Amino acid sequence: MYRYDEFDHAFVRDRVAQFRDQVARRLSGELTEEQFKPLRLMNGVYLQLHAYMLRIAIPYGTLSGRQMRKLAYIARTYDKGYGHFTTRQNLQFNWPRLEDLPDILAELAEVEMHAIQTSGNCIRNVTTDHFAGAAADEVDDPRPWAEIIRQWSSLHPEFSFLPRKFKVAVTGAARDRAAIRVHDIGLELRRGPGGGLGFRVFVGGGQGRTPMLAKEIRDFVPEQELLAYLEAIMRVYNRYGRRDNKYKARVKILVHERGLEEIREQVEAEFAELRGGALDVPVEAREAISAYFAPPSFEDLPRTSRILEEARLRDRDLALWVARNSHPHKQPGYVSVTISLKPIGGVPGDATADQMDKVAELAERFSFDEIRVSHEQNLILPHVRKDDLPALHAELKAVGLATPNAGFITDIIACPGLDYCALANARSIPVAQRLSERFADTRRQSEIGDLAIKISGCINACGHHHVGHIGILGVDRKGEEFYQITLGGAPGGENGGEDAAIGEIVGKGFSTDEVVDAVETIVDTYLKLRETPQESFLAAYRRLGKKPFQEALYGR
Ligand code: HEM
Ligand code: SF4
Repeated sequence: MYRYDEFDHAFVRDRVAQFRDQVARRLSGELTEEQFKPLRLMNGVYLQLHAYMLRIAIPYGTLSGRQMRKLAYIARTYDKGYGHFTTRQNLQFNWPRLEDLPDILAELAEVEMHAIQTSGNCIRNVTTDHFAGAAADEVDDPRPWAEIIRQWSSLHPEFSFLPRKFKVAVTGAARDRAAIRVHDIGLELRRGPGGGLGFRVFVGGGQGRTPMLAKEIRDFVPEQELLAYLEAIMRVYNRYGRRDNKYKARVKILVHERGLEEIREQVEAEFAELRGGALDVPVEAREAISAYFAPPSFEDLPRTSRILEEARLRDRDLALWVARNSHPHKQPGYVSVTISLKPIGGVPGDATADQMDKVAELAERFSFDEIRVSHEQNLILPHVRKDDLPALHAELKAVGLATPNAGFITDIIACPGLDYCALANARSIPVAQRLSERFADTRRQSEIGDLAIKISGCINACGHHHVGHIGILGVDRKGEEFYQITLGGAPGGENGGEDAAIGEIVGKGFSTDEVVDAVETIVDTYLKLRETPQESFLAAYRRLGKKPFQEALYGR
């Protein structure tokens, strides 16, 4: 993984010192909360319902064991003993005390981490496929490019006060696992006509109150010109993006209002000026970054593992967990493993300090010291020998981290909702917990197959409800919590996010007491109407449309 150089170290240390001074001034009353706000937001500190919240950047979701241990230490020492992994591959602490925040940031700096640009109208943490560098279907590893974009976008003087926040996601495989179509810019690494590497570029995706899928603005930008092309897009957005209305300020609205053609022309004009200049990434520079992401020293192993096959026959739990939570690896004899942070009845994305310590240890023992955070709010060990799966499973099981539900109906995304968030209309977490309990039976989950439920506590859509196969949105109806259900959304899938879709509202909302039953009715309707057990919920919904689900829910 990328390691800080002297410049990075000095820079992050200076920022901590600066923030320490700002916090001291706030604590002494010299700064009001209003004056302090822009300063804290520059360092990832939000004010929520009950406390401050710290959002820590995990660049493209990659962590080492040492970094994970530090997060565990912070959770135990300064917070309530747990942390919350988010859909943008970051980590949030929900209960830090203001006076401790400078120390927390100093602790993070020791392991080459910070919270810069996790808030504010700047380019946020770049996200990518959580299987990057490991996935069997990858064209190339997207992480060097995610790192190059990170370096380019960090404190970019021209783009530090954009009309609104800006999110970039990169995938290195045709199967999109990074939800690129719901990002301001989505990048798909691919081979061009001449065989060289480059990017298909999408612009103007996003969720929130006006969900939109990003549109393809260019089918190929050669890799060395990527930064010039990104800079061109950012310039056009920075110049024309609306600053008069916060709700219309995202680049998706600009693309929508002006039309893709006009935006493309503007971007091409900027690009023509920029390409071939200082923003071109020379091969040597790219290679220097790629060296940080060189594959670990894999062993030559047979494709199948006798140890695993024998253990699978003996242990049904192991068999199910391997079937669900392990994923194809480019190196024979290895898999990537999903560590589910969705135990039945648990809080999606939460991990205790002890669990974080355990994951750090297991990453060191079994996965070349690498951990990833997935946008589904799970953790990943990217490089595990099949031979080691039985031992890994036993270790995970002992700390409650072996739930065999990756991609199942209980693998729910939920935002913090009314339990923490000052903007919420309704609770998300308890709904996720009740749904998870309702569908706890593993046999039933297996029968249902792939089904993604995503829950947001308000229209800002932090819980990705627009792209849930079943999306649940908390709304306020005369002071009461209600839930609107959408069906058929999808964050990505095959062919560069071509399968991505925004869900359709199925009908009137449901009360807190009704919402779990409503989801069960939808699931039962799918099970009744699917053509074969192989037809997924999404495929069946696309074939059937919403009518049969409306009939089942509302009796019409
Ligand atoms: C609890 C404090 C939080 C606050 C105040 C907050 C606020 C917001 C707001 C206002 C938006 C809408 C932005 C827009 O449409 O321009 C948004 C979007 C979003 N947030 Fe949060 N959020 C919070 C927590 C989270 C968490 C915990 C996650 C991850 C689990 C998250 C992930 C996202 C994502 C993915 C979006 C959609 C991005 C888009 O608009 O395309 N947020 N958030
Ligand atoms: S979706 Fe709304 S309720 Fe949920 S975290 Fe985002 S802003 Fe808060």
